[in-house]
Amino acid sequence: MIHQTVKLRDAGGEDAFLTPAYGSRAMSEPVPKYELSEKGLPPQIVYDLIHDELILDGNSRLNLATFVTTWMEDEAKRLMAETFDKNMIDKDEYPQTAEIELRCVNMLSRLWNAPAENEAVGCSTIGSSEAAMLGGMALKWKWRQRMKDKGKPADKPNMVMGINVQVCWEKFCRYWEIEPRRAPMEGDRFCLTAEEAVKLIDENTIGVVAIMGSTFDGRYENVKEINDALVKLNAKTGWEVPIHVDGASGGFVAPFLQPKLEWDFRLPLVKSINASGHKFGLVFPGVGWIVWRDKAELPEELIFHCNYLGGDLPNFALNFSRPGNQVIAQYYNFLRLGREGYRRIHQTSRDVAMFLSGRIAEMGPFDLISDGSDIPVFAFTTNGKANFSVFDMSAKLRERGWLVPAYTFPKNREDLAVLRCVCKEGFTRDMADMLLRDLRVAVDHFASLTTHKPRTAGAGFHH
Ligand SMILES: Cc1ncc(COP(=O)(O)O)c(C=O)c1O
Repeated sequence: MIHQTVKLRDAGGEDAFLTPAYGSRAMSEPVPKYELSEKGLPPQIVYDLIHDELILDGNSRLNLATFVTTWMEDEAKRLMAETFDKNMIDKDEYPQTAEIELRCVNMLSRLWNAPAENEAVGCSTIGSSEAAMLGGMALKWKWRQRMKDKGKPADKPNMVMGINVQVCWEKFCRYWEIEPRRAPMEGDRFCLTAEEAVKLIDENTIGVVAIMGSTFDGRYENVKEINDALVKLNAKTGWEVPIHVDGASGGFVAPFLQPKLEWDFRLPLVKSINASGHKFGLVFPGVGWIVWRDKAELPEELIFHCNYLGGDLPNFALNFSRPGNQVIAQYYNFLRLGREGYRRIHQTSRDVAMFLSGRIAEMGPFDLISDGSDIPVFAFTTNGKANFSVFDMSAKLRERGWLVPAYTFPKNREDLAVLRCVCKEGFTRDMADMLLRDLRVAVDHFASLTTHKPRTAGAGFHH
């Protein structure tokens, strides 16, 4: 978020100050909100002031909008607190943290079936967005080299994706001057298909992004079909169009819940995969991962070798300093859960999602867009039996503390507005029952209104 500075003149009077809430006991002076005060305050007072202000934030456990982890075990939290001081970039100073990152990359490359004969490489990032930038850059650099080798111009790169991509891919294209070619939605098709992808590809296509777990409805794109279509297209044209899989959510779900589904490095054209450790990797924000199936897929020019922290540190990242404790927390989960633990947790979340979506479908005024059977995320819309909109329902549920986002779909389904539930560890079957009860009460409330005009837009959710 870009924040604007507040004109102190406009804020004026009391608005420019934090009220001394504990004034009667320990504090008497107001604290400026928008400029540094001359003197500091005792820690307990500051803690209370900020702690109290944050009460106004939503309760993260009732936040069905976010994909991001909202619950971790106490031991994981303790480890994270013990390692707040570790800077991930200081690999020479914190070699064991670096070793743990390397082990995590190894575990993920094997989880995603990187061929044993290749040398898979990868790194942690602050999240999937940074990982997407790195994956996209590698595709651009590889494509440019291919064009140079053929003596062809390399000034009009494009990237093919569904319109359902998360905003990080639009950012990638804008920041790195690549034409985004987005297949629009059509009727009940909300994802990229092989057929649509092929229509948009030409020799300037640096790659195709396929999503495992669409942000809009949680569904997987058919990466195998896209791979097979590209194998044929490449053979026919002599192009070498590769695939990057955005497994922000599904990268940590499919290996456990749909192990037979081929979407990863088992498919030859899948060159790189990103995933968010802080989503279904079950770590608090922010940690993401990217793995390339072979080091040949990561152009050497993108790697910086710095020696000013001691040692030679090959680095491919957008930022420099970054917390190391999330990587440690990821490793904690890997050791703590193993494949069996991840399977059990995600299976439970999927059971809860499918229970909830099933009951919502039976209620009457709703139709499901997806049911939560891919990743435990589903979207639903209102039908002719509803005298309210999804935006009304989202606002009504908020009165009870539930954060259930309502938003419209992109081109060509802007007419479709949905509610979406992300069911994560910590959102229990009991909580699903409570949400259902509140949904029913809300439906009855709207049914009792004789002159209700459904609202057509909401506050807007950007996920
Ligand atoms: C499919 C997809 N890709 C990328 C992202 C961005 O991930 P992050 O928040 O880890 O940067 C998201 C976030 O919801 C997502 O759903």
